[in-house]
Amino acid sequence: GLLDDAPAQRENLRQFIDKLVNQGYTVGEPEGPDPELIDPGGRAVETWRQDYPYDTLLSRDAYESEKYLLQVELLKLQYWCQDNGHRHIIVFEGRDAAGKGGTIKRFTEHLNPRAARVVALNKPTTTELGQWYFQRYIGHFPTSGEIVMFDRSWYNRAGVERVMGFCSDEQYEIFMKQAPEFERMIIESGIHLTKFWFSVTQREQRTRFAIRQIDPVRRWKLSPMDLESLDKWEDYTNAKQEMFERTDTDHAPWITIRSNDKKRARLNAMRAFLNQFDYEGRDNSVVYDPDPLIVSRARDAVG
Ligand code: ADP
Ligand code: AMP
Ligand code: MLT
Repeated sequence: GLLDDAPAQRENLRQFIDKLVNQGYTVGEPEGPDPELIDPGGRAVETWRQDYPYDTLLSRDAYESEKYLLQVELLKLQYWCQDNGHRHIIVFEGRDAAGKGGTIKRFTEHLNPRAARVVALNKPTTTELGQWYFQRYIGHFPTSGEIVMFDRSWYNRAGVERVMGFCSDEQYEIFMKQAPEFERMIIESGIHLTKFWFSVTQREQRTRFAIRQIDPVRRWKLSPMDLESLDKWEDYTNAKQEMFERTDTDHAPWITIRSNDKKRARLNAMRAFLNQFDYEGRDNSVVYDPDPLIVSRARDAVG
């Protein structure tokens, strides 16, 4: 089908989506949490199968019940952090449409917002461009008892800025050298840092872009950066590999989450986060090692 074709090097995503619409592709269950792209024959586009270790998507029922239990555990962890003054940073990284935002939304759904914040920064202002690169992120770091989730992070410099040319080669080199040192200081200061990389395959990413364009309540998510990224899949792959090589450290490892099935990705991200801690009231029938087919240490990951 159309979505299986290799993208033409300079094909504009918008034209591609217009074509899908003209051919009768639609979005199924647009009000639902995870809409599907439906082909003219009425079948769901199944690009999630690309390089995916399971034959079926996780069912909605299994997802809902497990999600609830994990959210209860997140809340226990939050109480424990508040009682003991712990501080947490969780970095959510990945390609466009990998599912960072959707996962963060489920992490925060039942947390007390006074002690859990999401930080999603805009592109740097002129003032920020004149500062030390890490400076604007530090201002958002947690105080005691807080969990701060970064929807994209200082790793923009290793990804979008590198690929799109928003930073110089020299700035990039300095960043790559400083990031592990910066993270060592974070950890030595007693902040717990978790770094997640959400991994989506190329065809599934295109499907998600198409859904964003066709579905009116998702259109805001389709950014000019997304449109550019179609052409730049390989560049982003190279940038990611370099980032893993240079910033996956023992003190701040990268945890990759296979995300073609968003539901499995979200549950496993929650479980991987929780499993690092021995908080009060932890239920080991809910929190245990995440699924090794979904979650890996970056240096061991396949895709
Ligand atoms: P998102 O995928 O997070 O919804 P975008 O796809 O629009 O957002 O942009 C990706 C990232 O690129 C964002 O973190 C944004 O701040 C950053 N970005 C966009 N333009 C620039 C720029 N000119 N310089 C530096 N960073 C930029
Ligand atoms: P088709 O109608 O299948 O012959 O495709 C026509 C054009 O759309 C070709 O140039 C394809 O490379 C391009 N195309 C097909 N699928 C995609 C896709 N998923 N993303 C971007 N371009 C595509
Ligand atoms: C992304 O990863 O770009 C989005 O946050 C995906 C989502 O909202 O699920």
